[in-house]
Amino acid sequence: MNNSAVKIGVIGLGPRAETLLATLRSLPQDECQVTAICDLNTERIEKICNIFKANSLVVPAAYTDYKKLIADPEVQAVLIPTSWNSHLAIAADVMKAGKYAAIEVGGAASLDELWQLVHNSENFGGKCMMLENCCYGRNELMVLNMVRQGLLGEIVHCSCGYEHDIAYELVDENGCTSERAIHNLKRNGDLYPTHGLGPIAKILNINNGNRFLSISSFASKSCGFKSYAQKVNSPVTDFAIGDVITSVIKCANGETITLTHGISLPRPYSRDCRVQGTNGIWLEDADGIFINGISETKTEIDVAGNPYYSHVWDKTEKFYEKYDHPIWQEFRNNPTGGHGGMDTLALRAFFESVRKGTTPPIDVYDCAAWMAVTCLSEQSIALGGIPVAFPDFTNGKWIYAKDDSDF
Ligand SMILES: NC(=O)c1ccc[n+]([C@@H]2O[C@H](COP(=O)([O-])OP(=O)(O)OC[C@H]3O[C@@H](n4cnc5c(N)ncnc54)[C@H](O)[C@@H]3O)[C@@H](O)[C@H]2O)c1
Repeated sequence: MNNSAVKIGVIGLGPRAETLLATLRSLPQDECQVTAICDLNTERIEKICNIFKANSLVVPAAYTDYKKLIADPEVQAVLIPTSWNSHLAIAADVMKAGKYAAIEVGGAASLDELWQLVHNSENFGGKCMMLENCCYGRNELMVLNMVRQGLLGEIVHCSCGYEHDIAYELVDENGCTSERAIHNLKRNGDLYPTHGLGPIAKILNINNGNRFLSISSFASKSCGFKSYAQKVNSPVTDFAIGDVITSVIKCANGETITLTHGISLPRPYSRDCRVQGTNGIWLEDADGIFINGISETKTEIDVAGNPYYSHVWDKTEKFYEKYDHPIWQEFRNNPTGGHGGMDTLALRAFFESVRKGTTPPIDVYDCAAWMAVTCLSEQSIALGGIPVAFPDFTNGKWIYAKDDSDF
């Protein structure tokens, strides 16, 4: 093994860990080596060990107690694809040991667990990154690059979300068995905010000269899961979560963000992105970009004979050649790894921070601000949609713009 390979432990060996491990296997061997794995469930451990054997790889040390994995001297950094009720506490313990933690996406149950994350990073020297792979999406990064170059002018409003019909994954004839399903059964808020919000937060320089100030959230009625549950004769039919959760976030620099969560009604997948400024707009669902001065503006004549202007979308892909983010310029020739290559880029960014001992590009303050949306949206919905304030997890440091070369 090359000495520069980061020695990785993986806690939580569910389906997500399987896809992360498959991406790790596609990377050059000098990037990382999995030295330890852990799950509460020994069948999961056995399954993952067999995958290592089938690929003729050294089988890592195996633990059922995650604290033992953290203490293993052969582990430099820890990936934590457990589920939403456990990953933040585990990440806080990893940082307490002075190591690097990579958490998966999801939202927080309480502000307390986010403060714990922040305090352990500040007090013990460990660092935390969220593996928010969508921050590494080609379109998201290209638009960020275009915004940084001023093409869209001053950004005024954004939208984003997670709209994905996954009722079939969460409900079956046995009821709700996965942790994610139980969250949806019991909670009413935006449970999965970061796929859409992460890239938008980077575009808006959140924690980097800007911050989220407040959130107002509303939940529609809840029919989608019930309707699906009846079709598959599930014993569980009454879900707390509204089918469509709509939130409006206000930012310190004046921008608004609308955020949508909807996972129980039939529809094609979308992260619902819109970035709109004084000179142009990107709209994911139109697969289009309009930039004043670049895109076509037709002059047409109305029924009364007066001229009016009609703005024409350019296809998003038209801008790739010139405006792909530097991260994608070479990667686009061979985008390997899960989720169209986004998983590779997120993992690489994490390993690079570990190797260099630097703060990851999605840092502990980003994790805290983005994940706070979940518990704050629950509070706002419970209180009839009133605005709820975001804590300033940076304790004032957000006012300074950092030199942020990746983003
Ligand atoms: N970024 C993405 O695109 C993406 C895609 C899918 C899932 N995810 C995220 O990945 C995470 C995991 O998803 P999943 O579907 O694999 O979840 P899962 O619940 O099926 O698996 C989690 C595993 O973690 C183990 N675990 C839980 N607590 C533990 C503990 N204290 N110690 C050791 N092991 C523990 C469980 O036994 C289980 O095997 C979730 O946060 C999910 O939101 C991200």
